[in-house]
Amino acid sequence: MRPVGGGTEREGVLDDLARYFSISSEEALARCLDLESASLQEWEAAPRDSVDGIAGLYASATSWAFDLSWYNYLQVSGTGYLKSVIVADRLRIASGMRVLDYGSGVGATAQLFAALGCEVTLADVAKPLLDFARWRLDERGTPARYVHLPAALPVASFDVVTALDVMAHVPPEELRGTVEAIHAALRSGGLFVTGFDVRRKSRRNAWHLYDDDLPLRWEIARAGFRRADLIDAGVWIYRAGSTNGVRGRAHIAWAWVRLASPPARLLRRCRRVVARAGLTVFFLVAARR
Ligand SMILES: C[S@@+](CC[C@H](N)C(=O)[O-])C[C@H]1O[C@@H](n2cnc3c(N)ncnc32)[C@H](O)[C@@H]1O
Repeated sequence: MRPVGGGTEREGVLDDLARYFSISSEEALARCLDLESASLQEWEAAPRDSVDGIAGLYASATSWAFDLSWYNYLQVSGTGYLKSVIVADRLRIASGMRVLDYGSGVGATAQLFAALGCEVTLADVAKPLLDFARWRLDERGTPARYVHLPAALPVASFDVVTALDVMAHVPPEELRGTVEAIHAALRSGGLFVTGFDVRRKSRRNAWHLYDDDLPLRWEIARAGFRRADLIDAGVWIYRAGSTNGVRGRAHIAWAWVRLASPPARLLRRCRRVVARAGLTVFFLVAARR
């Protein structure tokens, strides 16, 4: 993240944004700090209640370049959770591995994997973000491949696919196809690393399209992924398996029982009601003290 000619990560982030968007560093900083309202403005600039409306956002939005760059700076400065570093450490990412970063944002995760010697591919629906990521990586001489989604991903080509803070943004209508494409892109036994940044519905969370992770986890299991491990902060490691044969069918049937059957959904609803009621009581009691 540092500038090519040397300096701090903060300078690197602001310098990248200033040069790429032809603005001053001061304006870049102001836009970084304004990230939430700028993203909200872009979201509310058009109706987003359809797949096309959401695609329109990713085709044009630039505020996320500022948002994600600043978030990356907060991570490396010790304020944010260094998710990609922890993922790389837990996966024992090593030279020569082929990694796809799906929903690659400004490219920081891909940069890290490239620095560790991996062959990296970045894929994103947001052309402005993918172009900015490519520019940043080119500036630093980092070799990478790029896929502007929904273009097809290469089949059986990756050892690892990461999708960090991405799945909650994939519209429900596209979820099955997205997960199946990721599964097909992995070699058999390859790893899919993802988390579910699901949030309670609100204006400020508008682009988080799920308030429950159950549908996301069901589609992942349904595509043939088996849960392999949980990294803290809710990042899951899945292993790509088959959906064929008796074992494949048994895996899907059991996943349906746990994640998609009416009792599973009812249980989830009950847990949420109980958890919310518990929190309300806790805050009421705390407020009275
Ligand atoms: C919160 S950002 C996370 C970026 C990056 N993974 C990181 O950890 O910094 C979400 C990313 O997912 C991308 N995205 C949103 N919807 C997507 C979709 N349907 N398919 C692929 N990427 C998507 C966005 O363009 C954005 O780059």
